[in-house]
Amino acid sequence: MFAKTDLLPPDAILGLTKLAAADQREEKIDLGVGVYRTVDGATPIMRAVDLAEKAMIQKETTKAYTPADGAPGFCEAILKLVFGSDSEQVASGRTIAVQSPGGCGALRLAGELLARNDAAGISAGAPTWANHKPLLTAAGLNVHMTPYYDAKSSTIDFDAFITSIKKLGPGDVLLLHGACHNPTGADLSHEQIDAVTDIAAERGFLPLIDTAYHGFAANLETDAYILREMTRRLPEVLITYSCSKNFGLYRERTGAIIFAGRNSDQAAAVKSHIINIARASYSMPPAHGGAIVSEILHSREMAQIWRDELAAMNQAVRNNRKLLVDTAREAGLGNQLSYITEQNGMFSLLPLTLEDVTLLREEFAIYIVGAGRINLCGVNAGNVGHLVQSLSDVLNR
Ligand code: LMR
Repeated sequence: MFAKTDLLPPDAILGLTKLAAADQREEKIDLGVGVYRTVDGATPIMRAVDLAEKAMIQKETTKAYTPADGAPGFCEAILKLVFGSDSEQVASGRTIAVQSPGGCGALRLAGELLARNDAAGISAGAPTWANHKPLLTAAGLNVHMTPYYDAKSSTIDFDAFITSIKKLGPGDVLLLHGACHNPTGADLSHEQIDAVTDIAAERGFLPLIDTAYHGFAANLETDAYILREMTRRLPEVLITYSCSKNFGLYRERTGAIIFAGRNSDQAAAVKSHIINIARASYSMPPAHGGAIVSEILHSREMAQIWRDELAAMNQAVRNNRKLLVDTAREAGLGNQLSYITEQNGMFSLLPLTLEDVTLLREEFAIYIVGAGRINLCGVNAGNVGHLVQSLSDVLNR
């Protein structure tokens, strides 16, 4: 059966983590995988998560199966977090959620659901997260790339994006990023979201909004604009949601697929299909992470601790952005990197080629994804000098 099976190359992002971990050079800087890090390079368990986990374990009396849509209370809590507790979207019952094994699991469920409903194809602005295309293709979808980011000006090429999505119609899907675009950090403004929503309403395509960094741009409320506005104004919207970054639950594989439809009957029908797809794949999501999220969001005190911690993480990444840009300016790189302070979330793209990235890794022990995505969490006062010197060396060669 497997006599001819060939060895695949490592994953573009996870493979880099392994390489970086094996590198013993003291000056090593890992700007790879999208994981939050403190100045010491640690990814601590959030205090709210620790409190919730302890409370939960004390209360736990069984390891029997959880319901198919996830840990008790999880779906209701996520819907309220995403749409607001007094929202029409929640009160009407026209939104549903199903807990998934991480954001990847939600995307896979979304992909299979779309393939099952004969989606003509899915368009994604370029560049997009390295795993979007493999994941959605594996679910049976044709993924088309549309223009989104102009690397020369380090800004969104909104005219080109708009021109291409105006060609979409019913049966098409447009993959959008919730706050904090991966890999560029360049988010649509609220006005641009409104314009995309107008086009979706006119052309009849379905937005699939992949949301993995809720709370890392402005704050939880402002970051939800795209989710709330699109579901308010459009008849159908799919959302994939990850709790990996904002709850720091990476290894617990906790996320959700969310559907907002015309009414509660349609939402219930779509939910039954999502559960059916999951049952034919892994039956039901692991309970632990979902139970932690539910515990946090159902406790006023823990929810506040979590919100404060998330805001602090957000601020720390913003500080790292400023540190990099200021240091680059002082080192004579001028304003070449100044766009980085305008962007959101963990990532920005540096103006590098694949060759530059290889050189930075081999010669300077700096780990960067693809052709230039850096995780700003890996920048700190102790390593920014080496980073900027190396960048300056490579950019001026
Ligand atoms: C990333 O983009 O680095 C993260 O979302 C982790 C992953 O699974 O790729």
